[in-house]
Amino acid sequence: GKGIAVFTSGGDSQGMNAAVRAVVRMSIYLGCKVYFIKEGYQGMVDGGANIVEAVWSSVSSIIHLGGTTIGSARCKDFRERAGRLKAAKNLIGRGITNLVVIGGDGSLTGANLFRQEWGSLLDELLKNGEITAEQRNKYKILNIAGLVGSIDNDFCGTDMTIGTDSALHRIIEATDAIISTAYSHQRTFIMEVMGRHCGYLSVVSALTTEADFVFCPESPPPENWETRLCKKLDQERMAGQRLNIIIVAEGAIDRHGEPITAGQVKKVIEDNLQQDTRITVLGHVQRGGSPSAFDRILGCRMGAEAVMALMEADENTEPCVISLDGNQAIRLPLMDCVKRTQAVAKAMADKQWEDAVELRGKS
Ligand code: F6P
Repeated sequence: GKGIAVFTSGGDSQGMNAAVRAVVRMSIYLGCKVYFIKEGYQGMVDGGANIVEAVWSSVSSIIHLGGTTIGSARCKDFRERAGRLKAAKNLIGRGITNLVVIGGDGSLTGANLFRQEWGSLLDELLKNGEITAEQRNKYKILNIAGLVGSIDNDFCGTDMTIGTDSALHRIIEATDAIISTAYSHQRTFIMEVMGRHCGYLSVVSALTTEADFVFCPESPPPENWETRLCKKLDQERMAGQRLNIIIVAEGAIDRHGEPITAGQVKKVIEDNLQQDTRITVLGHVQRGGSPSAFDRILGCRMGAEAVMALMEADENTEPCVISLDGNQAIRLPLMDCVKRTQAVAKAMADKQWEDAVELRGKS
């Protein structure tokens, strides 16, 4: 059978373990040798005990755990050709020519570059006498399947990324808890949520917690947002509401592209209204804790589909990313999705927010 390796890269997210588990078990079921690469690309570059063969029981009792049990890292060495050369040698040494990469767009782009360079890396290894001509020929193709693990839901092509649903659960649990104490003291709370440049977590958590106001990157508020905000909060109190909740995405911006922070919003409220106001920054709590049922199933389905894609791949197969489309796990060309994701980032940087939302499409 084929040699398959799985690794997680970049920021962790809930549900990555379910994906790793599915990759291992589907590979074994189909008669392949399957390896863990620990600590992401760093483990691939360093080799040694970082690359270990996995057996059926290696992935027992991890589906319910948050984070990634095989470790993750942001790796500088892999950005250099010298690092990728070492990584290639480590893979060839174990007969691995199929990779399942679980990470964000940076990690998936790195994998694509690795594949493009693979032939020339092997030539260099052969020239240096580090691999044999037989190995050069036998392992000439590297196939890649990507899975998007990120709480941000910021990747084009998939309805949901692995981890987003669990992060939402964390946010709404925390906000529900805040609401009870806010009620007692008739306070206003500003909740800062993650998502980098993507407003998904902030908008969906605002809708599901009955927040009074939300600041998100793709929809900067009008110039006079301070007046609008205060009017809205005041109206709610006049109507008998004992508390207010405002959600601020960490990437929230104004129409000039300048950040809008929780601290700024608090100051506006304190300067204009007599409301006792507090800030809660949820931070990495959102990325921790056990994965939701949705993320466990999503990880399982995507992991299994990634192995199927690699089994069917030949030298003409382009790297794919496994996406959720409606209720189906499908394969899309990896680089198309990465390019679309980068186009969204560019539109955001150019303050073309409507274009960004349009480009992002369903996700
Ligand atoms: O991409 C996931 C994410 O949690 C973002 O929401 C956040 O901006 C960032 O990672 C935090 O990065 P770090 O874990 O390096 O602090």
